[in-house]
Amino acid sequence: MSAPAITVVGSISIDRSLLVDHPPAPGETVLGSGTHWSLGGKGGNQAVAAARLGASVMLVAATGDDPEGQRLRDGLEREGVGVSRIVAVPGVASGLAVIAVTADGESTILVDPGANRALAPEHVAASAAELRESAVVMIQLETSIDVALAAAREAAGCVLLNPAPVPEGGLPAELLELVDVLVPNRVELARIAAASIPASDREAATLASGIRGPGALVVTLGGEGALLVRDGQVDHFPATPVEVVDTTGAGDAFCGALAEALSRSLELDEALPRACRAAAVATTARGAQTALPRPFELSGI
Ligand code: RIB
Repeated sequence: MSAPAITVVGSISIDRSLLVDHPPAPGETVLGSGTHWSLGGKGGNQAVAAARLGASVMLVAATGDDPEGQRLRDGLEREGVGVSRIVAVPGVASGLAVIAVTADGESTILVDPGANRALAPEHVAASAAELRESAVVMIQLETSIDVALAAAREAAGCVLLNPAPVPEGGLPAELLELVDVLVPNRVELARIAAASIPASDREAATLASGIRGPGALVVTLGGEGALLVRDGQVDHFPATPVEVVDTTGAGDAFCGALAEALSRSLELDEALPRACRAAAVATTARGAQTALPRPFELSGI
């Protein structure tokens, strides 16, 4: 079998979403007005996002040996994602995310990583050939930093890191050095820079310019698009205006579309309008993987 264009190393989880008026404050009980589930986890979402847009994708991940794990694996396989490097870990539950979605589509996410915690550098090592031969290796941080480091060390192509979530203590310098494109949102950027959340594009650009290591930073700004910061230059890419239903997975749609374009050797400034459109489309329907765009939704970009 030929090498995948993109190898994703990351988490897979079942998402259980609740529609609420507002997210709970400490000590508060909030009654929801409906619930639905979908397949999620940042690794799985990003893999499906890229595969739906036409890339050949392999996912290195872990589930429990439970029915949820089988459901996650089947869902990814249906989307054409390579699942031969997904391990089923005995005696642990598959990852679970509990998501509160408000009427304006904003989502607040609590994650029990479950089997995602059991993904280890040895599992990454078993995929060394794919990691070396893929045009893009895409990583997030719902699995351990050691897993992220192992994947980035093995990669020979473009390393795209979505640092979500940033661990306490920030990111190791070695990981930042191995990254070609770092894709944080404002909160993650602030955490990496050990600063407050930037209140303007200018503040975000200043923080991003101070981060040493990655070849380029792409700061996602939600409904305001994204900033590309590299070589002392800052470019803004606008968002596509849409009716927002649920923001869950929008960042993953962005990363998946970016990776798909980079795997075809597009430049960052050609790839970013597609990533912005993909993120916008992903907010127009409920759920993470259910809402990821199809190629026709990005046509003309
Ligand atoms: O980025 C969205 C994802 O974060 C959800 O699918 C949920 O599983 C959490 O991991």
